[in-house]
Amino acid sequence: MKLKYIALNDRLYRYVCACRTGSDDLVLDALRRETEALGDISRMQISREQGSFMTLLVAAIGAASAIEVGTFTGYSSICIARGLRADGRLLCLDASEEWTTIARRYWKRAGVRKRIELRLGPAIATLKKLDRGLVFDFAFVDAAKEEYDAYYELILPRVRPNGLILFDNMLWGGRLGTTRINQASGRAIDKLNRKLARDKRVESVLLPIADGLQLCRKR
Ligand SMILES: C[S@@+](CC[C@H](N)C(=O)[O-])C[C@H]1O[C@@H](n2cnc3c(N)ncnc32)[C@H](O)[C@@H]1O
Repeated sequence: MKLKYIALNDRLYRYVCACRTGSDDLVLDALRRETEALGDISRMQISREQGSFMTLLVAAIGAASAIEVGTFTGYSSICIARGLRADGRLLCLDASEEWTTIARRYWKRAGVRKRIELRLGPAIATLKKLDRGLVFDFAFVDAAKEEYDAYYELILPRVRPNGLILFDNMLWGGRLGTTRINQASGRAIDKLNRKLARDKRVESVLLPIADGLQLCRKR
């Protein structure tokens, strides 16, 4: 197989970040700064171009209803909420009151607070308790890696045909594509990547954006 890809470096990555709509967004920049001040944990935040991609994707499918599993300090939720239709709603799931307190503040600053509902608690239990009739146009999964497949199986029946599910960290720091995956989280992601590629219920593609995005369209 002839390989075709461009490996990024710092110069090219800055270029990628600069050449997108909203690269001068003051609220998202302030949220990045505040999250970075938390220390190493800030690695959990999605990347800038990933956020722009998500806003575009949500808007492109005309999404009115979305769910996010793993909200942290709120960057991805703001990006999703901004792409929703004017009457759109985003349901955010996270276990941490501490991190999502920051998210709530930034939802207000970004003018999306009224579009978002937060449910605190373990994601699997929250997903199992969702109202029966709740259907989503778009889902973003970015919480416990070992639980991704369980989130998938709980969310997929609620996604409308042609709706999208996006999974973050599906390149797992670049450590996949080998048989020596020595952490449970890496093995779970590898297993799910392979499952999605064969799963007749969806069409999927693994995009090398940031730490890897699995983009799935429900058939
Ligand atoms: C990678 S961060 C999410 C980053 C976020 N999408 C952003 O753009 O900043 C993962 C989040 O998932 C939450 N989380 C991890 N395991 C969870 C679980 N089992 N149930 C609910 N939330 C969980 C953590 O509290 C954390 O805020």
